[in-house]
Amino acid sequence: MTPRQVTLRVTAVEAASKNARLLRLDGAMAHARPGQFAMIWLPGRGEKPFSLAGADPLEFVVEPVGDFSRALCALAPGERLTVRAPLGHGFSTPTGQPVLVGGGCGAAPLRYLAAECERLGISCHSILGAATADRLILTDRWPGASTEVTTDDGSAGTRGTCVDRLRQVLAGEPRGPVYACGPERMLQAVAAAADEAGVECELSLERYMKCGVGVCGHCAMDPTGLLVCADGPVVSGATCRCLDEFGGYKRDGAGRRVPL
Ligand SMILES: Cc1cc2nc3c(=O)[nH]c(=O)nc-3n(C[C@H](O)[C@H](O)[C@H](O)COP(=O)(O)OP(=O)(O)OC[C@H]3O[C@@H](n4cnc5c(N)ncnc54)[C@H](O)[C@@H]3O)c2cc1C
Ligand code: FES
Repeated sequence: MTPRQVTLRVTAVEAASKNARLLRLDGAMAHARPGQFAMIWLPGRGEKPFSLAGADPLEFVVEPVGDFSRALCALAPGERLTVRAPLGHGFSTPTGQPVLVGGGCGAAPLRYLAAECERLGISCHSILGAATADRLILTDRWPGASTEVTTDDGSAGTRGTCVDRLRQVLAGEPRGPVYACGPERMLQAVAAAADEAGVECELSLERYMKCGVGVCGHCAMDPTGLLVCADGPVVSGATCRCLDEFGGYKRDGAGRRVPL
């Protein structure tokens, strides 16, 4: 689908976790796919990529970690922002008995995917993990058949990681494929768990993006040159196995290697 650039009004800003915010806009992109992203532009601050957490209406979950994301979280209903979307390749249309695994704010695109499963009448199981309870997003408003929570410190749900739980779930009744989004080390462990269980997986990657449409080459991954913005951000576990830098390093805005 051809991306559009539109300026939309913020209709709601809600708490998604202690710090993260759910931004709802007065527009829809009904032709978008879960896993696709938008380049959000703020005047004087540039443009950055954010996953669609919902498409009708458009929703984003933003964690305030730097200047741009803090400015997004500080928007008030009635203010406007400009988005270019939908961009990239999203998750494939869910089939079977999907397991969705989200780490912290990385779970945002899986909320959209869980809603799609619900709409298609597919029974998906979501495992949402975070270091602590206050970093889990939207657990009280999560769509889909069943949802469980893990925290590293045991402050909510099962103590441990979402990957520990994924291994247990895959060892039980036959389930799959696995769809995951979160920190890359977590994605690496998800891919290994899915592989051991003989189940397909799709992972949503993040790399520093400038153009967002496959032109500048900034988001290319070694050694294949896979462009995360255009060939991803969602890629298969098999594709990730061919990427030397997956789980190892990324590049900053100047193109320097940064360990993960
Ligand atoms: C496909 C994709 C989807 C994303 N979805 C979300 C989301 O749903 N919610 C969310 O809160 N964040 C998301 N991000 C991250 C988001 O784009 C910003 O990186 C983040 O908000 C921090 O930006 P900042 O300027 O506030 O902080 P900064 O302090 O400038 O950056 C903090 C870190 O964010 C990363 N970063 C900064 N600029 C970019 C950029 N242009 N492209 C990619 N990474 C960058 C770098 O690793 C940097 O170290 C996504 C990134 C990608 C690539
Ligand atoms: S951000 Fe320019 S090619 Fe991906």
